[in-house]
Amino acid sequence: MHQYIFDNYTKNDKSSLIPIMQEVQSVYGYLPEKVMKEVSGYVGLPLSRIYGVATFYNMFRLAPLGENIIKVCRGTACHVKNSANLLFAIENTLGIKAGETTKDRKFTIELVNCIGACSIAPVITVNDDYHGRITTKDIPSIIKKYSGKQKAAGIEKAEEAGTV
Ligand code: FES
Repeated sequence: MHQYIFDNYTKNDKSSLIPIMQEVQSVYGYLPEKVMKEVSGYVGLPLSRIYGVATFYNMFRLAPLGENIIKVCRGTACHVKNSANLLFAIENTLGIKAGETTKDRKFTIELVNCIGACSIAPVITVNDDYHGRITTKDIPSIIKKYSGKQKAAGIEKAEEAGTV
């Protein structure tokens, strides 16, 4: 099914695994299980080994990304300005942990080390937008801005409970 990807590589050549995985991810944005089974057959490695590689390298994703990527900076300058609390508020609001995507696929949370905006720490980015010098109180409105018409999972609940 994905012969056009495999055509560039020799069958049963285990050293092709990572380049093939990179190509699959560039096509799908992540590594779908169905395609990984094909890769397993082509390179001659068990699926468990392929998932071992996929989880070892953080460049690989096992699930599709959300429409909006929230990056929470956990570098030193942001850390001393309580970025851990921002992360906690975002996780509570969306009902997911860092590295996960909401069920409606609207948001993915990622952790990053220094995004080059230390002067406005603590900083998060949503897609290409920087949000600096923010507190946990700013989180609901920032998330709402990217949620479209519907409230993201958990926003209403978090606002009512006063956890953000
Ligand atoms: S440490 Fe967060 S932007 Fe530099």
